[in-house]
Amino acid sequence: MSQVNVGLCGLGTVGTGVVKILKDHAEEIKYKVGSEIDIKKILVNDIHKKRDVSIKQEWLTTNPDELVNNPEIDIIIEVMGGIEDTNILLEQAIRNKKHIVTANKDLMAVHGQKLLRLAKENKCDIFYDASVAGGIPIIRSLTEGLASDKIQKIMGIVNGTTNYILTKMTDEDLAFDPVLKEAQALGFAEADPTSDVDGLDAARKMTLLANLAFKMEIGLEDVEIAGIRTISQEDITFATSLGYTIKLIGIASIHKGKVEVSVEPTLLPKDHPLALVKNEFNAVYVYGEAVGETMFYGPGAGSLPTATAVVSDLMEVVKNVRLGITGNEYITPQYEKQLKQDDE
Ligand code: NAP
Ligand code: HSE
Repeated sequence: MSQVNVGLCGLGTVGTGVVKILKDHAEEIKYKVGSEIDIKKILVNDIHKKRDVSIKQEWLTTNPDELVNNPEIDIIIEVMGGIEDTNILLEQAIRNKKHIVTANKDLMAVHGQKLLRLAKENKCDIFYDASVAGGIPIIRSLTEGLASDKIQKIMGIVNGTTNYILTKMTDEDLAFDPVLKEAQALGFAEADPTSDVDGLDAARKMTLLANLAFKMEIGLEDVEIAGIRTISQEDITFATSLGYTIKLIGIASIHKGKVEVSVEPTLLPKDHPLALVKNEFNAVYVYGEAVGETMFYGPGAGSLPTATAVVSDLMEVVKNVRLGITGNEYITPQYEKQLKQDDE
């Protein structure tokens, strides 16, 4: 593959970052994967909108067929969001033997196992590192760096928007609503920010991590979820007076084969490492039987941090294509078994 052609779905916060990194780091990327990576088409809602990045106007389209049914395109990068329509679009792309890179945790939490299975059947890769904790390579760490270990527990802050809101409410005594607006303007929040605020975004991320870490099919219905909507300025002042900080903490653990996952506002001593994680930053502890405790820290949302993860995944696909080892993604044994039973 001396030349790789990409179809980019979405040119918002993350998509813009992807275009910038592909351009600004082109030499670095080519050196590492040995191929030129070219954008062929970009799917958007509005081709006349002013963009924050320099692109060729002929790249833009509102017609998904120009990407998913385009024989020139090898890899689809999906950074537009949405669940059902996006799932249909990616299924079609996979059937057309296109590899997928996505930052879409909503989609992966709902349809991930089915998409991974379809991709495996079609010898396609799906990578989704950007879907959890933005610029922190946490999925890659679970599937590669810590692959030999038995993971016992994952705990941390995996939503940038709520951490941004709680930080500003605590450190600057600001009110919830204007800070949420700031987080939206900075591009951290979801299109519908209720999924951030009510803990759903963090819960989806925790299910993705739990599925990978424990090789079990954990659904959203298995997660105890509470968001930060009910946290008042008084709660924060009271917690501070007692020497505590309130953080939205996700926990996934396994004990005697039973997995428990929760996302809820939690009181942490002011000097706890997770209490010191500010603004849109995320931090995730992973406890492995052999490795013990590890901690991953970095920007959990935003254009360039998230795009870094997307482009790194893209490079991984290109390397796998070269080695002829695509289609080896992570399907839980439980889901494989269920599919076999369905087939019989
Ligand atoms: P965004 O700023 O709202 O951008 C969405 C882009 O997709 C826009 O360019 C929009 O087109 C296009 N789009 C949306 N629906 C479309 C449709 N049905 N048909 C054609 N184009 C469509 O979103 P974002 O913040 O970049 O997030 C994108 C994805 O990355 C989401 O899944 C999100 O959860 C995930 N993510 C985001 C972050 C972050 O920090 N923002 C971090 C990690 C993961 P127009 O520009 O024409 O409106
Ligand atoms: N809305 C998400 C967050 C984006 O605030 O963490 C990153 O996944």
